[in-house]
Amino acid sequence: MTPATSLFSPVEADLQVLADNLKQLVGNRHPILYAAAEHLFGAGGKRIRPAIVLLISRATMLEKDITPRHRRLAEITEMIHTASLVHDDVVDESEVRRGVPTVHSLFGNRIAVLAGDFLFAQSSWYLANLDSLEVVKLLSEVIMDLAAGEIQQGLNRFDSSISMDTYLQKSYYKTASLVANSAKAAGVISEVSSEIAEHLYGYGRHLGLAFQIVDDILDFTSSTDTLGKPAGSDLKSGNLTAPVLFALSEAPYLEVLIEREFAQEGDLEQAMQLIADSQGIQKARELAADHAKVSVEHIEVLPPSESRQALINMANYVLSRLY
Ligand code: IPE
Ligand code: IPE
Ligand code: MG
Ligand code: MG
Repeated sequence: MTPATSLFSPVEADLQVLADNLKQLVGNRHPILYAAAEHLFGAGGKRIRPAIVLLISRATMLEKDITPRHRRLAEITEMIHTASLVHDDVVDESEVRRGVPTVHSLFGNRIAVLAGDFLFAQSSWYLANLDSLEVVKLLSEVIMDLAAGEIQQGLNRFDSSISMDTYLQKSYYKTASLVANSAKAAGVISEVSSEIAEHLYGYGRHLGLAFQIVDDILDFTSSTDTLGKPAGSDLKSGNLTAPVLFALSEAPYLEVLIEREFAQEGDLEQAMQLIADSQGIQKARELAADHAKVSVEHIEVLPPSESRQALINMANYVLSRLY
């Protein structure tokens, strides 16, 4: 399940090693935790985050090979991401992830919460073993941000007065922080200048925001089968994303429907229709494209290479998921 394969070609072999390692890293401390983690790593996922870490590693180590620390960072990044998904699916009560039943739907909420904690804890341990205080600081901030993002999203459910800035802030916490900080950390391991490190952060931040906006559009426009996870669930559960926030300014009645939490029959359908009839999706697409463009400007400070080109193409890939 790697739709972006050709995009990842400079690091394809690296990603294969990563897939094998991830399963081993989870270890066999406890059969249930192992089964839960194995279940998700086995199902795969697009592996966009480790691909970005590996591509940045290669693009910043042009004369040399990447090191075991770069590889370990990529593994930690995917582990943190997967842990956040296990918890997110409990919070969102989602039954499917990566085309397979979620951990909580197979093993129950208690095991899913513990399995997510276990993955976070384990990623922290591997992180500490990289022996770079700067990298530890970058990635431990991500773990805080992920929790802050989930909490903020939970508190803002069905609040039609939230601003686009609040939405983008939450999206940074939940999604872009990991991409930004792991991108920067890859540069830190390559010992790039602090100026380059900030550009790598900027690349990850804007690419991550574009990615989340696109994911939020796909929740409206795609099917559960294509996504490998439930579609059409954000609005229903009161997570107001870019298409809704744009639509609200055109269709004020949407506010009434949201504020009464779609309590009356046909409310949800009517709200979906109002959004479909508005410029919401189109404007959200433009917002995603703006962020993708800024991400490319940041990565272009690196010297040209096959890996840099793949990072540029990544921005187009994120947007192309919409078509
Ligand atoms: C899902 O991320 C969570 C979001 C940030 C939208 P991905 O779409 O990268 O999930 P996987 O790793 O491919 O399953
Ligand atoms: C983003 O949340 C995923 C996290 C990083 C926790 P979403 O709720 O939008 O992601 P999906 O749609 O479940 O993948
Ligand atoms: Mg979710
Ligand atoms: Mg979503």
